[in-house]
Amino acid sequence: MDSLNRHEDYGQELFDETHVLANPIEQFKVWLRDAEAAEIYEPNAFVLGAVNSEGQPTSRTVLLKGISEDGFFFATNYLSRKGSAIEAEARVSATFGWYSMFRQVLIEGRAVKVDSIESDDYFNSRPRDSQIAAWASRQSQPIASRAALEEQFAAAAAKFEGVAVTRPEFWGGYRILPTRIEFWKGRSNRMHDRIVFTRTEIAEGRFGEWSIERLQP
Ligand SMILES: Cc1cc2nc3c(=O)[nH]c(=O)nc-3n(C[C@H](O)[C@H](O)[C@H](O)COP(=O)(O)O)c2cc1C
Repeated sequence: MDSLNRHEDYGQELFDETHVLANPIEQFKVWLRDAEAAEIYEPNAFVLGAVNSEGQPTSRTVLLKGISEDGFFFATNYLSRKGSAIEAEARVSATFGWYSMFRQVLIEGRAVKVDSIESDDYFNSRPRDSQIAAWASRQSQPIASRAALEEQFAAAAAKFEGVAVTRPEFWGGYRILPTRIEFWKGRSNRMHDRIVFTRTEIAEGRFGEWSIERLQP
């Protein structure tokens, strides 16, 4: 396990207040495009943190499927472990780690369910087998065996044979409305650049202006 004893040099690529866009969501798009150009595997994958009803922080990877001026869209099963956690506590975090680029983005905010039209639109854009899988899996619930899971898939496939697969009520999108977005750029000697944007939610869904600060590494 050599990695435990390695000391990587994270380089000198410039990233500072003068190189960052004033709107962090626009800046995020720049870094996501950079990650795509660098051919990072699943550049839109992020670790979603959510606190459950017992106060236990939980995390798992999901895929970012949309970016708008309001925030970051992902889709999942609303009755899953993460769905229950978000139901109990809407405040979540999202961590994008593009390690080979010495970059990470840390997002904090509130997750809201998107409306059914947006969830339908996204569901309808998915491959048919993924749509069937949404029906076939009671995500995060125990199941006796792989065979039992395959049976559930086959049953869902049979149910929709010859017709379009509609979206299950229990499956859809969330949007993370961010109040904090940090851009972290690794630099030599652990003297990393951290540029953080924060804003407050003045009223439900209404946000103040972004302010920007540099943090010590
Ligand atoms: C690269 C990657 C992408 C994933 N994307 C999603 C996703 O977009 N939506 C989802 O529900 N689960 C996704 N998963 C599976 C989740 O990590 C997780 O296992 C699942 O959502 C159940 O989590 P929960 O029990 O905490 O709700 C992905 C996993 C990986 C490794």
